[in-house]
Amino acid sequence: MYRVGQEEIDAVAKVILSGELFRYHEGGECERFEKRYAGFVGAEHCRMTSSGTAALTALLAGLGLGPGDEVIVPAQTYMATAISVLSVGAIPIIADVDESLTLCPRATDEIIGPRTRAMIPVHMWGLPCDMDSLTAIARKRDLLVIEDACQAVGGAYEGRMLGSIGDGGAFSFNYYKNMTAGEGGALVTDDAEVAQRAGCMVDCCSFYWTGRQDDFRPFAATGSRASEIEGALMNVQLDRLPSMIQALRDQKKRILKETADTPLTPAPSRSLDWECGAQVVYTLPDEDSATGFVEKVGGVIAGKTGRHVFTEWDPILDHQGAHHPDLNPYNLPQNQECRREYPEGMCERSLDILGRTVMIANHPDRSESEVSAVIERIREAAETVLG
Ligand SMILES: Cc1ncc(COP(=O)(O)O)c(C=O)c1O
Repeated sequence: MYRVGQEEIDAVAKVILSGELFRYHEGGECERFEKRYAGFVGAEHCRMTSSGTAALTALLAGLGLGPGDEVIVPAQTYMATAISVLSVGAIPIIADVDESLTLCPRATDEIIGPRTRAMIPVHMWGLPCDMDSLTAIARKRDLLVIEDACQAVGGAYEGRMLGSIGDGGAFSFNYYKNMTAGEGGALVTDDAEVAQRAGCMVDCCSFYWTGRQDDFRPFAATGSRASEIEGALMNVQLDRLPSMIQALRDQKKRILKETADTPLTPAPSRSLDWECGAQVVYTLPDEDSATGFVEKVGGVIAGKTGRHVFTEWDPILDHQGAHHPDLNPYNLPQNQECRREYPEGMCERSLDILGRTVMIANHPDRSESEVSAVIERIREAAETVLG
């Protein structure tokens, strides 16, 4: 969360005083946000959800993924990315990230097997994936591309908004994200049928409120409908987003520029002019220097957040894919030809890179002198650790 204040309080108060807290009514906040956000991202359709996990799951279901399918996820992401694959009955296949901290195109290409139907590039820490390479691979190998833009709300890749480049994109509005309603999320797609199926996942009872449609048979699904409180908050947050992202990007560029003459190696950015700018990232030569650097500057080692590396995904490594063994994708007969093991020693390259990559978080409300102090700390640490 970056900015929240009186405007959000006023918007929520208005909803509460109106008594219209349920989304299905004329001129509602959710409907307004969905239209605005689709336009902002450059997608045809948007559905709000109660979380990013629900958005990802609904999108995968909307795209028809299910038992018998493998879906590639990166070795570093929040576990929810991989969990969403299991939630639709498919199997997550874990591929290496590269120094950019995003899905490595070469590793992705190499790991594709006969059962692989989709990939989920995750724009981790607001850093865009190499979408040109990944979409080229997907086209060549006939895979769907689902962008996990949960951590990259408001970011873009070479002029195209993240989440709008593949077959669909998912966003989180939880407390830690660029825009927030405390919890929340959204999915976008250009495909009306995918949007309709995903919408059914989000609220399979919606036809009671919006009317039955002759050409669509609703199916049973768990709900993740957004409330008008979320809608009201998100409409204000969307007004704030562009200037916050601009401030973050400018800050990152300034820090990189003013540390360019140090021995530090900036992690490769796939789209420096368009990314979120939330983190300044450097690739250190080894874990010791990364540890020494973080001790001096602050920040965090990418592989040591405690919740973003595949080795920390307990239910997945433990094959606990559902609440009931008969629904567990790892047990389903349709998945017997999918690769279901996560052997010891896998994705060593990711673990090596993650163990020596350091991230320093930006904030859009830092003053120029506060940014200067960060730059000074980075320069001193670089001198001590690498000089
Ligand atoms: C990359 C990524 N994917 C998915 C999610 C899931 O979002 P939520 O927590 O809103 O369910 C998160 C949340 O932190 C995330 O960082």
